[in-house]
Amino acid sequence: MNHSLPLSQLLGHAADAVQAVRGGESLTTALERCPAAARPGAQALSFHALRWLGAAQAVRAQLAPKAPPPAVDALLLTAIALLWPNAWADGDAPYAEHTLVDQAVAAARARAKPSANFVNAVLRRFLRERDAVVERALRDPQARFNHPPWWIDRLKTDWPAHWQAILDADNQRAPMTLRVNARRGDAAAYLARLAEQGVAATAVGTHTVVLARPSPVHLLPGFAAGDVSVQDAAAQRAAPLLLGAGLAPAARVLDACAAPGGKTAHLLELADLDVTALDADPKRLVRVEETLQRLGLRARQIAADAGDPAPWWDGKPFDAILLDAPCSASGIVRRHPDVRWLRRASDIAALAATQARLLAALWPLLKPGGRLLFCTCSVFKAEGEHQIDAFLQRNPAARLAAHPASPGHLLPLADNVNERPSPGPRPVADGFFYALIEKT
Ligand SMILES: C[S@@+](CC[C@H](N)C(=O)[O-])C[C@H]1O[C@@H](n2cnc3c(N)ncnc32)[C@H](O)[C@@H]1O
Repeated sequence: MNHSLPLSQLLGHAADAVQAVRGGESLTTALERCPAAARPGAQALSFHALRWLGAAQAVRAQLAPKAPPPAVDALLLTAIALLWPNAWADGDAPYAEHTLVDQAVAAARARAKPSANFVNAVLRRFLRERDAVVERALRDPQARFNHPPWWIDRLKTDWPAHWQAILDADNQRAPMTLRVNARRGDAAAYLARLAEQGVAATAVGTHTVVLARPSPVHLLPGFAAGDVSVQDAAAQRAAPLLLGAGLAPAARVLDACAAPGGKTAHLLELADLDVTALDADPKRLVRVEETLQRLGLRARQIAADAGDPAPWWDGKPFDAILLDAPCSASGIVRRHPDVRWLRRASDIAALAATQARLLAALWPLLKPGGRLLFCTCSVFKAEGEHQIDAFLQRNPAARLAAHPASPGHLLPLADNVNERPSPGPRPVADGFFYALIEKT
């Protein structure tokens, strides 16, 4: 990491973000308060701290059983996470340990002067006794897996053979994945453009490219002109799955939870469709318009509740519906390391109830012979397989398409990729659930 600001300042901003997440706020919102110059550095440090927060909390509880005030605690936890052994297994540790301790102490002095000695003492003791402290901390599953216990238990129940691999994958850094606009080219042609600029990348699908290192979008060739978009490989399955063998030109398609528009745009890149992009959040809908404008695509946009069609539906049935429903986001923890600490166990049943309400409201809008693709970026069966099993029970005219047209759960593991094998040991794609339902 090469940032112009002193590390102590970056640690302070990262600790502010960690404190906000521990207080229930999303990391994205918390980082918006960070001064622009400090944001990339603070983001990198806070991502790391949240990936190792379970471990850091167990260490702090051993070395300082009485929690310090929240601002000091967040700083201490951030520093401990950065000093946790092997935390940088998928990349080099960016700071020497003694630098980190010195800078954390300077950050503590700036936050609450009297806390500097305390932070210094805890961090130095951690370094002195690290092997024993770590060994004791790892007896706690929340420290070992860096997820809350209820989340670990749910994964154990849903995925008895894969729960550990999913948890470990959640703590890795996600690759930056691109979707090449099918109206402009394909992955092979775009790889050649990247190579001209010395950017290393691999194709993992006809239109899917994984960058060896993340890049600011403005440096990607043709980004502003709409040649390429950023989208995870698993999310790139949605549009082809809904289109299947193809829809008639100008087929009426509803994208019921569209914002920020990644899947809407992909549908329109692949086929000439009459798309209605709906989202309950008008602010997020603005991003759909921005996405479509950059790509030179068009869709009707409506800000409304998909679960209450009466005010916005013109009564003409849709040929196809995409329901990318609000969910726990348990499949995209790599990209959103705060999610696991923000969710509560009770959220899952509430989200599943919302998904069931949306499915029930939208099903009557689908033409007989039409298809509905239900998806969530979740690995929990309550938001996938179990949700759809219950829907099929309630709706005799609904028939689940056979695999691979309806792939079901895609786990965020190394062998879960679009068309081609993973280029490395790290999982390429996020966790997702897809069910393609046909109306008989
Ligand atoms: C998973 S995101 C959609 C991502 C989007 N399909 C994409 O690929 O870019 C879920 C979206 O559902 C929207 N949403 C939540 N409840 C809704 C409702 N009752 N009606 C319509 N949209 C809703 C949220 O505002 C959010 O934008």
